Amino acid sequence: MMNILCMTLLMSTVFALNYSEDISPIIYDNCTLCHREGEIGAFLPLANYQEVFENRYWISYAISGNGDGSRHGNPIMPPWPADRSYSTLLDEMYLSEDEIHSFLEWVDEGAMQGDPALEYPMPDYPTGSAIGVPDMVLELEESYFIEGNFQDDYRCFVLETGFTEDKDIAALEFIPGNLEAVHHALIVAAPQGTTDALEAEDPEYGYDCFGGFGTFNISDFLGGYAPGVRSREWPAGLTQKIPANSELIVQIHYAPLGTDQTDLSSVNIFFKEEPTQRYVQERVLINFTFQLPPNQLTEVHEVWNIYQDISLIQFLPHSHLLGKSWEIFALTPTSPDTIPLIKIPQWDFDWQFWYSPEYMIHLPQGSEVHAICTYDNTSNNPDNPNNPPQWTFWGEGTEDEMFFVPFRYVDYEPGDENIYLGDLEYILGDVNGDTLLNILDVVSLVNLILNGGETTPACDVNGDDSINVLDVVTLVNMILSG
Ligand code: HEC
Repeated sequence: MMNILCMTLLMSTVFALNYSEDISPIIYDNCTLCHREGEIGAFLPLANYQEVFENRYWISYAISGNGDGSRHGNPIMPPWPADRSYSTLLDEMYLSEDEIHSFLEWVDEGAMQGDPALEYPMPDYPTGSAIGVPDMVLELEESYFIEGNFQDDYRCFVLETGFTEDKDIAALEFIPGNLEAVHHALIVAAPQGTTDALEAEDPEYGYDCFGGFGTFNISDFLGGYAPGVRSREWPAGLTQKIPANSELIVQIHYAPLGTDQTDLSSVNIFFKEEPTQRYVQERVLINFTFQLPPNQLTEVHEVWNIYQDISLIQFLPHSHLLGKSWEIFALTPTSPDTIPLIKIPQWDFDWQFWYSPEYMIHLPQGSEVHAICTYDNTSNNPDNPNNPPQWTFWGEGTEDEMFFVPFRYVDYEPGDENIYLGDLEYILGDVNGDTLLNILDVVSLVNLILNGGETTPACDVNGDDSINVLDVVTLVNMILSG
């Protein structure tokens, strides 16, 4: 009996989790993108053992999902407000159940460091463009001063394009000048001069704007930024247009800061090289007429009726501080099943993203897209800007509300549903995604073909746009010939 006890104690010291080998990969792969010096999460740097050790209980709270989940999803970190069991979207940020358990177990076992030489290397975080060398760069005309007063600051800036003809773009990429300060950004175009009066009224550079651009004379959304979300070029010959003689308006949300800082952000423009006729279109589902009485929850439900076949690409649910939850789904005439698009159980104004499905979604003529937002205009809502709660209507101010959902889509073409919207930087044949090519990939591929399941472009080994036994043959050949 004694022996067994000794053995167990011995084993648990030998096999206890340690920071270097077990925990540093979890933190460096999922947290330090934001939680290190000079980044949006710099108030809580997690870039070495000491910093993680000192904050281990705070981290446990944030990742375990035992909090109230009232902010940016549940668990609250990494920030990903969308419900991952409802739909699968690109660029989801989350820790797996195993990773969460390892961290909690490590804390329980005494949070040992282990051998520092075995620590996982911090990833190389890219600086500058994630896409390549831009064709054109537009920078803010002057540095913007952000006061260190722990307040949010919402600001619009106007950038002159000088374009005398329409330009087709592959991407607009927003590059924050100050990563600690810039929380998110949105870019649209407007006819030259549209914002002159707004700029003239405001003594500082740019003009004040919270939930809009101060004008409705704007183009579709052309780009945006949120920490952790990478910019990409439009895939598969798609493009957007910047109209001739227009200026770009960049709306930036600066997060609260404790010290005075400045920002000099810029926009990289990538033109579309090859000519194309597939313009990304935008349909905004909007309700201007809702009324939110004080001291109650109100549901607003809008429907987009689709009159021709389309392929859905992206969506961006948007409300202000009374927003509580969102659900967006599609119904088609051809299938009894609902297509779940996105559910945000705990809306958070601070974390807004353009959300993309993994593949384009074909919505045939006669489909309906339903968007439902619930607003909490009670004093239980800690974000309620009014105390006591007041009647609230549509508007662009902090105390107003919005129901606003832009959708991006193109006219349907056969095969669209196979167009992958994520990064095409995959290793052909790496079916299980472990960055190696070996027999395990053959097993996974055979399994997928026999039993179905989620396929990625890496599975189409022979590049014929369909996934079948011919891909297995090509893959086996690739592995055998090294
Ligand atoms: C995309 C950027 C980003 C990533 C990735 C991220 N965080 Fe955060 N985190 C933030 C920001 C910004 C805040 C503070 C503002 C807020 O809460 O929205 C924050 C807040 C926190 C807090 C305080 C939460 C509270 O409410 O008290 C903890 C703890 C934390 N993060 C830990 C983590 C850990 C651990 C990870 C990785 C598993 C992680 N974060 C990943 C940006 C990020």
